[in-house]
Amino acid sequence: MVAKGLITGVSLVLALLVFSAAGVGTASAQAPGLKKGFYKKSCPRAEDIAREVVWARVAGNRELAAKFLRMFFHDCFVRGCDASVLLDSPTNTAEKNAPPNLSLAGFDVIDEVKAALERACPGVVSCADIVALAARDSVSFQYKRNLWEVETGRRDGTVSSDQEALADIPAPTSTFDILLSNFSSKGLGLQDLVVLSGAHTIGVGNCNLFSSRLFNFTGKNNPSDIDPALNPSYARFLQGQCRRNLQDPNDNTTVVPMDPGSSLSFDNHYFVNLKAHQGMFTSDATLLTNGRAANIVDKLQDPGVFFDAFKNSIKRMGQIGMLTSANGQIRKKCNVVN
Ligand code: HEM
Ligand SMILES: *[C@@H]1O[C@H](CO)[C@@H](O)[C@H](O)[C@H]1NC(C)=O
Ligand SMILES: *[C@@H]1O[C@H](CO)[C@@H](O)[C@H](O)[C@H]1NC(C)=O
Ligand SMILES: *[C@@H]1O[C@H](CO)[C@@H](O)[C@H](O)[C@H]1NC(C)=O
Ligand SMILES: *[C@@H]1O[C@H](CO)[C@@H](O)[C@H](O)[C@H]1NC(C)=O
Repeated sequence: MVAKGLITGVSLVLALLVFSAAGVGTASAQAPGLKKGFYKKSCPRAEDIAREVVWARVAGNRELAAKFLRMFFHDCFVRGCDASVLLDSPTNTAEKNAPPNLSLAGFDVIDEVKAALERACPGVVSCADIVALAARDSVSFQYKRNLWEVETGRRDGTVSSDQEALADIPAPTSTFDILLSNFSSKGLGLQDLVVLSGAHTIGVGNCNLFSSRLFNFTGKNNPSDIDPALNPSYARFLQGQCRRNLQDPNDNTTVVPMDPGSSLSFDNHYFVNLKAHQGMFTSDATLLTNGRAANIVDKLQDPGVFFDAFKNSIKRMGQIGMLTSANGQIRKKCNVVN
């Protein structure tokens, strides 16, 4: 694990604190420049306004929670949490046009939040903070209370590139060491990797991203040729969901809930499924192949432990490479730089 720069260093210290607290800890500290209630004086109702718009939209479309949680992850992993994920591409191809964006959505809701905030306090609240708040608020809607604290004070970046999205978003085919290395390079640790993967308790995955585990895993090309890391009856379930025929050899239009049965409910059920070898992607299943990670998966069978751990890990994710004080800008519209 190599710590690059101050921010990475801070997160690394946090990660180590958490490890020492028997795998699932409650360490918490602030990143420089970010704080709870950053807009308290400059725009006192900022967080209320954001929540009101997000809750109104999520009430009409519960799937948005997964969209915003994933949007926050993609934003933070590419150039830090700087709302680069929201930028349209004027000339080059932007992050949101890169293949891993497949299921990114909810951009219109972000614009709606931004418009409401610009009316209340022009030029004050960053799009990067809106993304962070939308993730928390949309997921929390189900419980009608905040599931985690969001530090604010991020500023918006001015660059977005599909090449960087490809380079920074881990692939669903990744194995454990690769994922750990990808998270480490963002200042996140093994604990964060396991805990944040629990986000897959809501939302859907596209068949073409996991069908290689279902039909032709070792090249024998028959319905029994499934990834042995998959629970056989779960594999049959997935086979039934995803088409495979000559017209559509790699079904890229069907999506399947990642937590069948409660894919709209943010809970620790991902870890219950995972332990039963019902993780959809290789990147999920691989978490059981490492002793320390598997040990954390065991602890996360307890909902209370999961909610506490998620609070800490998503806070650290929200601190990745943020632009604060003199850096970046407060965009007037989230899809274009000023
Ligand atoms: C560990 C590395 C990760 C990998 C390889 C990964 C991969 C994926 C893939 C391939 C999908 C399906 C996308 C599609 O079919 O279009 C997905 C969905 C999703 N991911 Fe991850 N992910 C990872 C970590 C995370 C993290 C850290 C979060 C958030 C904290 C997250 C949140 C989500 C959510 C909520 C969805 C569902 C999106 C929807 O329903 O539209 N993922 N992920
Ligand atoms: C995602 O990228 C594809 C191209 O890979 C593009 O056709 C699609 O419009 C993009 N989605 C969004 C929401 O920008
Ligand atoms: C993930 O880590 C591996 C191994 O260090 C590296 O080759 C790969 O480029 C990384 N991918 C991403 C998306 O960060
Ligand atoms: C099955 O996998 C083998 C080996 O990877 C590959 O050569 C073959 O084209 C695959 N068959 C189908 C129908 O995808
Ligand atoms: C889906 O697959 C079809 C045929 O295999 C291909 O023509 C199309 O471009 C793919 N669409 C996406 C979004 O990848």
